[in-house]
Amino acid sequence: MVDFTLTDEQKDLRELARDFATKEMRPVAWEYDRESTWPADVMQKAWEVGLMNTHIPEEYGGPGLDYLSGCLIEEELGWGCSGMGTSISCNGLAMTPVLIGGSEDTKKKYLSMLTEEPKLASFCLTEPGAGSDVSGMRTTATKIGDKYVINGSKCFITNGSHASWYTVYAKTDKDAGHKGISAFVVPRDLDGVTVDKKEDKLGQRASNTATISFNDVEIPAENLLGEENQGFKLAMMTLDRTRPGVSASATGLARAALEFATGYAKERVQFGVPIAMHQAIQFMIADMATKVHASRLLVWQSASLLDQGRRNTLESSHAKRFAADSAMEVTTDAVQVYGGYGFIREYPVEKLMRDAKIFQLYEGTSQIQRLVIARETLMPSRAVEPAAATV
Ligand code: CAA
Repeated sequence: MVDFTLTDEQKDLRELARDFATKEMRPVAWEYDRESTWPADVMQKAWEVGLMNTHIPEEYGGPGLDYLSGCLIEEELGWGCSGMGTSISCNGLAMTPVLIGGSEDTKKKYLSMLTEEPKLASFCLTEPGAGSDVSGMRTTATKIGDKYVINGSKCFITNGSHASWYTVYAKTDKDAGHKGISAFVVPRDLDGVTVDKKEDKLGQRASNTATISFNDVEIPAENLLGEENQGFKLAMMTLDRTRPGVSASATGLARAALEFATGYAKERVQFGVPIAMHQAIQFMIADMATKVHASRLLVWQSASLLDQGRRNTLESSHAKRFAADSAMEVTTDAVQVYGGYGFIREYPVEKLMRDAKIFQLYEGTSQIQRLVIARETLMPSRAVEPAAATV
């Protein structure tokens, strides 16, 4: 049976997030975008009301929410301001490898750190020369006695300037390609960790994106996540779990653009009637609405598979590819509905169009999602269990 009914608890969570987005994010979103201000105050409040660290289990102080509930929250935060939403949800990306591969001691120490205080963690995978091609990374982790020594530089790190610890991927065997990568927890306060450049971005300007460098950083061997040389798979398993949430945020952003466009189309009069009366506008609104709806369904399915403990590699790439591309299309159409006013900063939709672009780039570009979808479709034997998309 396919049942799209939410539980009362899920409806309450969605309401909580919607209320938060309406009262705490929307009133300041455009100002924070203009000034490129990192929303420390909004994040503090999000932590206080329980909208951060949603998947940390109760034994480490988190609410231990299911993935679908997390996506309901992320859609609302993406609706409020996707830049702030990215900042609020980013701990999820950093802590997922700890949840999957961390020892009990590591989980207790680093997950509890995020739930006891409003602290942040960042996911350090990308490098200047290794974006889509993860195995091309140059950062190294050399084992010396009971320590690893990390050297290298990671770029485009969300919340990088503000994180208390990082999940860092590094080569433990330089000649073994993807089979020579390992993942580690690296505390920010260690000697040799430096926060370098903060990026000045086109969109999601309320999120912080920085370069983090590691220069002879010594970490205890117990900070290794999972087995040595299994870091690539850990990264892929992490992205399978986080891509539904990112897609939900893109869906929320697209929904916001649809709402603005609909409101404007009913008010703006041309040729003697509101432009919503013109079929040219109606068809655009209809396509925008279908894209928002279809994005949400893909998000819900990819998250539900995770909640059933099933593999969702294909479905999370379907969701990410479609929701990201749809967010770009829907926000561009919203600008079109506004006409010349859509291009003016005083009106709300140009920000949404700028914010949408990153969804086609981060957590795997739309081209990488197509690569995954093509591989999974052409070679389903790659899957550990049969792909579950044939509903
Ligand atoms: N789950 C488990 N294992 C997986 C897997 C998955 N989803 N996907 C691949 N693997 C395994 C494969 O089975 C294979 O295993 P074996 O060694 O046993 O054969 C191994 O991993 C290598 O897989 P591939 O041959 O598919 O690897 P590839 O080098 O061709 O890369 C890729 C595949 C899909 C292109 C991958 O590199 C990828 O996803 N790239 C995009 C990276 C990305 O999303 N970066 C975003 C960074 S995070 C970010 O943006 C956050 C931020 O802060 C802004």
